[in-house]
Amino acid sequence: MLAIEPAKKLSFTRCISDGDLVIVYERHDNMRAVKVSEGSVLQNRFGVFKHSDWIGKPFGTKVFSNKGGFIYLLAPTPELWTLVLSHRTQILYLSDISFVIMYLEIVPGCVVLESGTGSGSLTTSLARAVAPKGHVYTFDFHEQRAASAREDFEKTGLSSLITVGVRDIQGEGFPNEFASTVDSVFLDLPQPWLAIPSAGKMLKDDGVLCSFSPCIEQVQRVCETLRENFTDIRTFEILLRAYDVREAKLEGCQDDSSVSVVALPSKKRRQRSSEGSNAQETQGSSIAMARPCAEAKGHTGYLTFARLKCFS
Ligand SMILES: C[S@@+](CC[C@H](N)C(=O)[O-])C[C@H]1O[C@@H](n2cnc3c(N)ncnc32)[C@H](O)[C@@H]1O
Repeated sequence: MLAIEPAKKLSFTRCISDGDLVIVYERHDNMRAVKVSEGSVLQNRFGVFKHSDWIGKPFGTKVFSNKGGFIYLLAPTPELWTLVLSHRTQILYLSDISFVIMYLEIVPGCVVLESGTGSGSLTTSLARAVAPKGHVYTFDFHEQRAASAREDFEKTGLSSLITVGVRDIQGEGFPNEFASTVDSVFLDLPQPWLAIPSAGKMLKDDGVLCSFSPCIEQVQRVCETLRENFTDIRTFEILLRAYDVREAKLEGCQDDSSVSVVALPSKKRRQRSSEGSNAQETQGSSIAMARPCAEAKGHTGYLTFARLKCFS
């Protein structure tokens, strides 16, 4: 079960049980989801880890292998699930997801329509945002993808918050039963402009739509179509830059213009300072080095938002 209610955040309230889903964390770019099973083991480059050693431990625990290597057992959240799920399609990542949820004004109790479902990366976070009483109806025309997404939502304990439908949303639009009842619509489709008239009919007055497209030509067609019934049309590209911040020696960083450096006092002086001495901390051979990570993600897509015009 993913931690969907902040008040019941798994890592604070519960210990790992047989059958739980845990995120095995080696480092920020090396994680995987594992279902805990009493008699099983996990084997990696750090050695062999017995699942039976994990049962009863709080989420977040550091556990050791037969060779003394370690991993962390994290509670599965939508944020971590997005990083470990099977990629059956391109997916949305955290920077786009968080912006989408904020800009679509999704809060507990909202009803949200989505198409396509893809790998369910966004859907998982949408479900947490609308929980416990809202609902996400997500549609994909690819039967196998829809079935795999359904299985994933079962596995993560979100199936009561999400309904997956198989439907060609560009061709048929959203089902009429949702007309004028939904708070927000999200489209990640190759030709989203075909689905916009239907999306407009589904939204409550003042509801908000978002369309994600990788190419600016798609965005232009989306905006053109939106102008008919929508207002406050805005397009964003979310560019995320991660930083590597650590202590280093000044030598070696001087010629690199991408590196910001700040002189640090020596460790001894810092210790004295934290113990209450008034010593001035101006000199030292170490620096705090901050440099953009080489792995930083570039363009993912454009997010176009628009609010349904209220005609009454
Ligand atoms: C890029 S994926 C969506 C990824 C998803 N946003 C995520 O974060 O995991 C696009 C999906 O749209 C689906 N799709 C394409 N055309 C469609 C259509 N006409 N109706 C419904 N789904 C469609 C594809 O099968 C694919 O699964």
